[in-house]
Amino acid sequence: MAKNINNLEFDEATKLKLDIFGECFEEWLPIFNYDRYTDSVYVFDFFAGSGKDTKNNPGSPLILLEKAKGENRKYCLNAKKEIRFLFNECLTDKSKQLKQNLNQYIKQCKTINGCESCIYQYSVQSYDFKDIFEKPAVKDIFENKNIGKFVLLDQYGFKEINNKVFKQLISFPKTDFIFFISSSNRYGVSSPPLCGVIILPLYA
Ligand SMILES: C[S@@+](CC[C@H](N)C(=O)[O-])C[C@H]1O[C@@H](n2cnc3c(N)ncnc32)[C@H](O)[C@@H]1O
Repeated sequence: MAKNINNLEFDEATKLKLDIFGECFEEWLPIFNYDRYTDSVYVFDFFAGSGKDTKNNPGSPLILLEKAKGENRKYCLNAKKEIRFLFNECLTDKSKQLKQNLNQYIKQCKTINGCESCIYQYSVQSYDFKDIFEKPAVKDIFENKNIGKFVLLDQYGFKEINNKVFKQLISFPKTDFIFFISSSNRYGVSSPPLCGVIILPLYA
């Protein structure tokens, strides 16, 4: 049966992975928010999962929104431009669950903070990665040098990010990405489960 990390409690390695990328995003967002040469910001989570584990620990989509809010709402209150999130999860059930989890998170956040609406916009898609990555509308965003892009690629294993995808990613302007490769998959060993992280800060 296919692996599903959202059907269990996240293990320590997964929590560490989520911490690492959350911290990267937290440092990245204000740079683009205040950059006067950037008109808007897009955040892509292409392997988004369902949003939570079985113990309600947040997965990458909810972590991204929480970090975008910032401590004491320091980022959402000071957002200077349009900031959009695109979450993609190929499994229909998981993408539906993700929509529910995101709606619930936003609703709760608005209630707690007395907001009528959330300044962040998001959409949830359910495509295979290679199909959504090739969509002309997505390509246009990647090729636009006035849009800051943060891309999270949290695949299982390593097969989705091949040479072609990698070369495209490094060629796009104002595009920073983080991806994880399980080195146990990479080197064909089953134990111990190691995790490699590659962070490319392309725009500084
Ligand atoms: C490692 S999990 C990522 C979980 C997520 N980042 C989180 O924090 O919960 C990978 C996710 O990508 C989905 N997935 C696998 N292959 C995919 C593909 N080719 N395109 C889109 N999603 C895919 C899986 O169903 C799974 O939910």
